[in-house]
Amino acid sequence: MSVSDNTQSFLALDKSVIASYQHLSELPLVIKDAHGSYLVDVDGKEYLDFTSGACTMNLGYQTFKGQGHASFPFPYTTALNQVELAQRLVKYYPGVNSEDVRVGFGVCGSEANDAAIKLCRAYTKRKKIVAFKGDYHGTTFGAVSMTTLPGRISDKFAPMVPEIYVLPFCDETADNEALDECLLQLAFLDYETIAGFVIETVQGDMGMLPMNQKLMTMLYNIAKTWGIAFVVDEVQMAFYRTGPFFAIENYAEVIPDAILMGKHLGGGVPLSCVMGKKEFMDALGPCEHAFSMAGNSEACERALVVLDLIEKEGFRSTLDHSMMILYEGLNTLKNKHPKSVSHITGIGFAFGLWIKSIDQRLNNNQACFMVMYKAFELGLYTMRLGSNWLRIEPQLNISNDDLQKGLKILDEALTAFENGQISTDCLKWML
Ligand SMILES: Cc1ncc(COP(=O)(O)O)c(C=O)c1O
Repeated sequence: MSVSDNTQSFLALDKSVIASYQHLSELPLVIKDAHGSYLVDVDGKEYLDFTSGACTMNLGYQTFKGQGHASFPFPYTTALNQVELAQRLVKYYPGVNSEDVRVGFGVCGSEANDAAIKLCRAYTKRKKIVAFKGDYHGTTFGAVSMTTLPGRISDKFAPMVPEIYVLPFCDETADNEALDECLLQLAFLDYETIAGFVIETVQGDMGMLPMNQKLMTMLYNIAKTWGIAFVVDEVQMAFYRTGPFFAIENYAEVIPDAILMGKHLGGGVPLSCVMGKKEFMDALGPCEHAFSMAGNSEACERALVVLDLIEKEGFRSTLDHSMMILYEGLNTLKNKHPKSVSHITGIGFAFGLWIKSIDQRLNNNQACFMVMYKAFELGLYTMRLGSNWLRIEPQLNISNDDLQKGLKILDEALTAFENGQISTDCLKWML
């Protein structure tokens, strides 16, 4: 596909005025519009979005009609819709009575992670924070200090926030030796001095890797025994992405002190929150984590509409059915393309499709890029996060037809790749 003059000139314009740290996209896409599950580029070409806008638009691109509360972003005071939103969110907290849960709103997922560090320290009066290798928590200073996603995070701006320790992460494939190594490193930190665990329940940007069940339970038991705060980052995975409302509900009897949400919460406008047990949340007082636009009523109004939509009858059962279709579809692809698909990772509606090279002249990352690029040419938008897996996180309300269409495009892209029909010219776009 030759990139149109229109796209090329917008990309050039973009480079001439937007800072390089905001250039994350590897595909020559300039979006002019979007509707339902589709993005529309400057030339009017449509792309099925299999990433839900990086999970910021889990219900597709639509105009959200407000509930009718006045919405104006006046800060630092009570807004009716903010209170209503909190009242509705606390009902989702697993294992704790709603009246014992509190919500602190913010503006983005990174900042919710910073709040988690402050809360863990304030609550326990200890300093050490434990995160896990490969986590992505964001790019504010606290969040980035807990982030070790390879290749993306630079230490140009070191020093990071002190007293943050990173332990080995174990997914379901980990053996006992790997689990023991993680627990041994933890023991070296001295449990009594640890303020909190901040856990990305499912490592999204590492390939949709749920934390190992055994490890999660062991960490939780250590936290309970030693008074360590237990926080899960579900900025990407909350709102039924993995099956239950929160991914942590996939782990029996683990009841976190707080859960972090963001991305989709505001249905496309900046909104995040920390939701947790009252005593934990009350460890910070007024002004200790305040943002002018945190929980502004414009965003809360939208979030209420998002909740209305996901609470509609039939939403969950339709999603369960879509999850089955996606799971079967990806497995069919894997079986049909053993040469180019190495494996699939993930859960629910969050999968990684791992691509391997079939040609010694290409490494796996390049192979993955070429498959992604071909799918893009064929009208499917996916992402590759610097590695050799494709991010498959369709919109939760995608139609069966669109789901099948996306899978068919992936099939065609893999076939083209295996038949040597994708030109390596596209690699010039690779970051
Ligand atoms: C698990 C997780 N935590 C935190 C963040 C950071 O959120 P934001 O980009 O809104 O700051 C992200 C964003 O991708 C994420 O996936």
